[in-house]
Amino acid sequence: MFDLIRNMINLISDYQKEHADEPVTIAIDGMCGAGKSTVAQMLHERLGGNLFHMDDFFLQPGQRTPERLAEVGGNVDYERFAKEVIANLNRKEAFSYGVYDCKKQCISHQVDVNPAMINIIEGSYSMHPYFDDYAHILFFLSVALHEQGKRLRERNTAEQMERFVSEWIPKENQYFEKFDIRNKCICFDTTDCSMVSPKGVKKKQMVGLIVAYSKNRAIGKDGQIPWRIKGEQKRFRELTTGNVVIMGRRSYEEIGKPLPNRYTIVVSNTKKFEAENCTTVGSLKEALEIADKNKNVYISGGAGLYREAIDIVDKMFITEIDAEIDGDTFFPEFEEKDFLREVDCYVDGEIPYTYVTYTRKE
Ligand SMILES: NC(=O)c1ccc[n+]([C@@H]2O[C@H](COP(=O)([O-])OP(=O)(O)OC[C@H]3O[C@@H](n4cnc5c(N)ncnc54)[C@H](OP(=O)(O)O)[C@@H]3O)[C@@H](O)[C@H]2O)c1
Repeated sequence: MFDLIRNMINLISDYQKEHADEPVTIAIDGMCGAGKSTVAQMLHERLGGNLFHMDDFFLQPGQRTPERLAEVGGNVDYERFAKEVIANLNRKEAFSYGVYDCKKQCISHQVDVNPAMINIIEGSYSMHPYFDDYAHILFFLSVALHEQGKRLRERNTAEQMERFVSEWIPKENQYFEKFDIRNKCICFDTTDCSMVSPKGVKKKQMVGLIVAYSKNRAIGKDGQIPWRIKGEQKRFRELTTGNVVIMGRRSYEEIGKPLPNRYTIVVSNTKKFEAENCTTVGSLKEALEIADKNKNVYISGGAGLYREAIDIVDKMFITEIDAEIDGDTFFPEFEEKDFLREVDCYVDGEIPYTYVTYTRKE
């Protein structure tokens, strides 16, 4: 464990050297039983500063609705954490936050926090996309499954263990997968305390396109999407939130404003749209150049941008609408053999649709 801590401290001090006089926020997420709280405590003892636990932000009884519990990453009060902790860390002033007590099932007390040069946040869901990249250094801790089982059995009752296996571990895995958490992080395995991803190497940015098209490949008509299917845009919202969206001028005008919780880059040579989290550039190339390299990029139409993007994207997230629909704008033909096609989900209904992912073959 000490090697792992030393490695982490080296990474943190490298960051501090490059960002002198700036407070650093470190988030530690990972598998349950991987040792997040132990590692965070050891870092805190050596580095000082503030230590926050996501466990203090469990959902309160009234918040545990079936809808909320079904939400991936929804079983923590991320709204309260964002409001009471993250917003205040950014203000760099003293603040206090409430601690949820699982036994009493309520917020039992307040903790006072003073601004510090080091802030450590540990716990599952500490990298929820709702938080919008607040941390400067992201660590992910994994552990081999046999060792995870052993550690969890040692410190939990049989009943709790059952809930880990049937409920909490699957929920965690869904969150890691859906929000691509490991790829954002410097990863360590605490089974043998090795570093899994090479020092300081951040994830390669994924450049994808995202589209919904009908059987006849229609994507638009009269400047609008030519169908209304409730829920169909869910995947668009989930994938693009916290990331960068690039779209042509007409598509942007259809929406009329920047999309919330993501950065929008509009491509246009005739108009300039500048707003918070939104800018305009003159070409797709320029858009890709200015896109934050720590975020994924989703090229979101229309037809011209898609045509240009097909040759460069790593992935295509396509919603296949199972109907022939009248349109005036179409998704271009592409070489299917260049991609691996995976069906993610089929949704039945008046107009059924299928979420499909195409990944470019190496
Ligand atoms: N089904 C879907 O998933 C989906 C997704 C997006 C859009 N749509 C639909 O598609 C339609 C809009 O698509 P569209 O193809 O007509 O328009 P668009 O691509 O959204 O906008 C076209 C405009 O964007 C700018 N532009 C696009 N590519 C450019 C490039 N490579 N370099 C410089 N500028 C570029 C130009 O703006 P300037 O003229 O200002 O220079 C161009 O006139 C709408 O009906 C919309 O609802 C559907």
